[in-house]
Amino acid sequence: MCLADAGIVRVTYFPGAVPEDEPSYAVSPGYSAPGAEIREYDEDGFHVVETSLLRIRIRTEEQKVDFYDVATDEPLLTDEGGFGRESKDWTGDARVWIRKNLQETEHFFGLGDKPCALNLRGKYFSMWGADHYDFHEESDPLYKSIPFFLSLRERKAYGLLFDNTCRSYFDFGATDEKVLSFGSFGGLMNYYFIYDNTPLDIISAYTRLTGTPELPPLWALGYHQSKWSYYPDKAVYNLVERFRGLGIPCDAVHLDHHYMERKEGFTWDKQNFPDAEGMVRALEKDGVKTVLIVNPGVKVNSVNPVWKEGMERNYFCRRSEGNLLSEEVWPGLCNFPDFTAPAVRGWWADLFSRDIGKIGVRGLWNDMNEPVVFPDRTFPMDTRHEYDGMPCSHEKAHNIYGQCMAEASWLGMKRHAPDRRPFLLSRSGFAGLQRFAATWTGDNRSSWEHLKLANFQCQRLAASGISFAGADAGGFMGHPTPELFCRWMQMASFHGFFRNHSSGEFGGQEPWVFGQEVTSYVKAAIEGRYRLLPYIYTQFRRYAETGMPVLRSLALQCFTNKDTYWRGAGDFF
Ligand code: GLC
Repeated sequence: MCLADAGIVRVTYFPGAVPEDEPSYAVSPGYSAPGAEIREYDEDGFHVVETSLLRIRIRTEEQKVDFYDVATDEPLLTDEGGFGRESKDWTGDARVWIRKNLQETEHFFGLGDKPCALNLRGKYFSMWGADHYDFHEESDPLYKSIPFFLSLRERKAYGLLFDNTCRSYFDFGATDEKVLSFGSFGGLMNYYFIYDNTPLDIISAYTRLTGTPELPPLWALGYHQSKWSYYPDKAVYNLVERFRGLGIPCDAVHLDHHYMERKEGFTWDKQNFPDAEGMVRALEKDGVKTVLIVNPGVKVNSVNPVWKEGMERNYFCRRSEGNLLSEEVWPGLCNFPDFTAPAVRGWWADLFSRDIGKIGVRGLWNDMNEPVVFPDRTFPMDTRHEYDGMPCSHEKAHNIYGQCMAEASWLGMKRHAPDRRPFLLSRSGFAGLQRFAATWTGDNRSSWEHLKLANFQCQRLAASGISFAGADAGGFMGHPTPELFCRWMQMASFHGFFRNHSSGEFGGQEPWVFGQEVTSYVKAAIEGRYRLLPYIYTQFRRYAETGMPVLRSLALQCFTNKDTYWRGAGDFF
């Protein structure tokens, strides 16, 4: 056990006699534990450790750790069965778990992008980054793995981060209503218990532990227009002209696949974008920033300098027998950088010297980084990863692959546009993603159900440290009715990240597509966002400095009122 400060305690169970620590992808390297004054004594068979906030009673023989409020001696979280471990196979890997008492009055929030009503009590969830095209309510797991949850009961709250990157699970009383359990299929039982006065303080503390984000550039908090895809360059110019003509504010245009040559990363399609630099600069002059999609797969192509360099440097993932990992994604057969190696992250960062440094692209959009390969799979489990100096298989690196890619892309923006604050969007991530990127909720659908889910997901992500989050406004798949589109744009104007994106297969989804009346309402919603921008920017500044979430569910804001814990009229939380 180790104390980070008066309210943050790390508990780790090492299987051997010698502690074998691992790098943490969740905890920010910039986090400096303020330390805490502690009092230790033995009493009634317990070893007791006290801080100004907590009393921790440890039953050493049974390996049980119980947390109490120091002022009232009220139990906060106590072990039921406690720690368990079972060898999985001959590799020495083990399944680890912990069982704790679930109190009758306890309710749970958090866990990233889960698409269900906010309160998680009575449910079971998995953490395993997955591309879930056309997900629906209760689909699990999804793109992100954020193993952090909050427990609330009228006057008490605590948070818990399970810092383990293997496939993991959380059972909030689904199997046994008196038991809260979580565990993983490998790695260490390693968790942080976080205690403070209110849920918002706890989320702030969690965000400081896993890293507060940089303040986003102001434009990135404005309105973004996207589609799969806007091309050729004329279509992009026309799009911007239309926004300007109608007087609808828009700060960014996102370019999907079709800006690339044969969908290969770090290329521009010369036919459709003969003068990429000229276009990016002209748009910038018009007040519109260009954001580019970048996927992890590097096309196997002997004339592609990125692929050649990756091969020469041996930066692509290999299978356990030493052969290269080669899988199909958008451009065809690809190899995949091992983003868990610092040298590979540095190399990837420098690949942006042209687009970010020279051409003046202002934002990057990392997709398919769960990672996903066709058809609908991920890397084989025997794929090897460097894992920052502790080599391991994909079972352990899967959940942080996307975040390591985001870190590398973020580094590219820092290096090649050092005087600008970066804007990066990442579909996948782990605890701490906010240090590098904003996020969106993936491939949703133009339906009323998805409008509701988008609202759950954005609030839940904010409760999990990621306030800079949005859903594809209007829906990615399908075509919204005029009313749905209008309501969705109005709602999305209040989310951290505000982008209209669609698959483009079902017709346009720009603000003016649904008739004059809807256009005027949507314009008003976007203008409303801009009127609120000074306030939103200030809230983001506060978030960047203290970790305080920008979007706050009623349950977190008014947690002493238990009526806010469950769904209200209309099923809306
Ligand atoms: C994935 C992304 C989507 C993108 C598409 C094509 O489905 O989630 O946003 O438009 O790939 O790149």
